[in-house]
Amino acid sequence: MSVVKINVLTVGEDRREELERRFAGRAGLVESAEGFERFELLRPTEGTDKYFVVTHWRSEEDFQRWTESRQFREGHAKAAADGGQGHGHGHGHGGPAATGAELWAFEVIQRADAT
Ligand code: HEM
Repeated sequence: MSVVKINVLTVGEDRREELERRFAGRAGLVESAEGFERFELLRPTEGTDKYFVVTHWRSEEDFQRWTESRQFREGHAKAAADGGQGHGHGHGHGGPAATGAELWAFEVIQRADAT
């Protein structure tokens, strides 16, 4: 079954609107990545103040290939530039909206959808 990669973003109260605005204007390139299944941006409402960027992939290899792709770079180009890191991802820094990012990984071992 699929692998699930969740980028967990720390976003200050005053930056939430900016983060959501940026995602609203996201590149939309991930959709065409090989092995990509779905993406959701989850806004916290209870129990945590972290935003979850949830992505599902056919395989670990497909996810790795995407992180090394032009689509990933372009999808994060603004975050990288504004973050002033030169690259801006994978090191817990990130762009202007998120002050921290942590990658969590899971495998789907069961699934049910409404009948
Ligand atoms: C330091 C690490 C990261 C930070 C701070 C970060 C933050 C962001 C931000 C702010 C955007 C909105 C577009 C923009 O402003 O450029 C974005 C896009 C996105 N991020 Fe990340 N990201 C990071 C790494 C990752 C990783 C490891 C994943 C994998 C789960 C991921 C998944 C996505 C997806 C799927 C999009 C939409 C791209 C598209 O539409 O093609 N991000 N990210």
